[in-house]
Amino acid sequence: MDRHTIHVGLGERSYPITIGQGILAQVGPALKAAHVANRYAIISDDQVGTLYGEEILASLEESGLRGELLLFAHGEASKHLDTVGHLARQLAQRGFDRSDGLIALGGGVCGDITGFLAAIYMRGIPFVQVPTSLLAQVDSSVGGKTGVDLPEGKNLIGAFYQPRAVFIDTKVLSTLAPEEFLGGMAEVIKYGAGIDAEFFQWLADHHRAILNLTSSTLATMIRRCCELKASVVEQDEREGGVRRILNFGHTVGHAVEAASGYRLNHGFAVAIGMVAAAQLGERGGYTDPGVVKAITGLLQLYELPTVLPAEFTPDTIRGYLRTDKKNVAGRLHFVLPVAVGKVVVTDRVIEADIDVVLTGGYHEN
Ligand code: GLY
Repeated sequence: MDRHTIHVGLGERSYPITIGQGILAQVGPALKAAHVANRYAIISDDQVGTLYGEEILASLEESGLRGELLLFAHGEASKHLDTVGHLARQLAQRGFDRSDGLIALGGGVCGDITGFLAAIYMRGIPFVQVPTSLLAQVDSSVGGKTGVDLPEGKNLIGAFYQPRAVFIDTKVLSTLAPEEFLGGMAEVIKYGAGIDAEFFQWLADHHRAILNLTSSTLATMIRRCCELKASVVEQDEREGGVRRILNFGHTVGHAVEAASGYRLNHGFAVAIGMVAAAQLGERGGYTDPGVVKAITGLLQLYELPTVLPAEFTPDTIRGYLRTDKKNVAGRLHFVLPVAVGKVVVTDRVIEADIDVVLTGGYHEN
């Protein structure tokens, strides 16, 4: 079995990420060896929990550890305080205390809910991430962002709280809906386009193996994303500076996602947002010529959208841009590419350029 281990170096909050085909069966032995907790609540949604919950339970049991499966309804609508309260009450009723821990088995929603619950239950208990969507495997399970949505906006309540370990099994990607896989690829491409030009080229060279879900290629790809994420988080755990580069594509992306009532896949919105950011960069003189074309080309290779769908008016998107969480003192912040693999954060993008890009009026060289 190809297995990769990456260390996230955050002093006493450091942890390993283990990646490979069949890693689910290793969760029990690894937790036993690391002495993380006495008993575990596996928190999952009613779809993923049904598919993989028993396998984790069996792995815990075979290692002499106790586990219980707690399910919530799948979907972003569950990512609110009521779900956290409901799960916390179940933990309390079952006598979970500070010597026990949580296992987040699922996609980004599950990791965010479970991590936040772990951060606040009895003022903090250990948790581990077992991400099952590509997006969670390459991004949200690493780095300690946890939280839930409010009716007023996404991720408005939360905490930075690091997991004790992350276990990534490439085999679970075979049960992912194709749209979910491709959405995750937008975040993968974000690492290449934003931080690592060599990886960007590698993604172009290996697109057939990746789209065919070749396990060893997927493991190599996920490892590179996790290495890049770990190195950014190690420099800036709480997003005071450099971590903001991971928001490449997310300014326009979040606005498009919100305008769709969160029906548009997050990764699809980020893909559109990366192209918009590159166009803004070229117009504003930040970005080398040819970058829009290169990013658009790679996104299209992975069947991802690159233009604003016709149902969204530029006015609507502008409205959502104004409420973005990344705004500071009322100024819009954009992450713009300088070249493939290098970005810059700026609050100096001019409104007229945003209008041109949102109305589809920018045509690259
Ligand atoms: N998803 C971006 C970050 O974790 O900072």
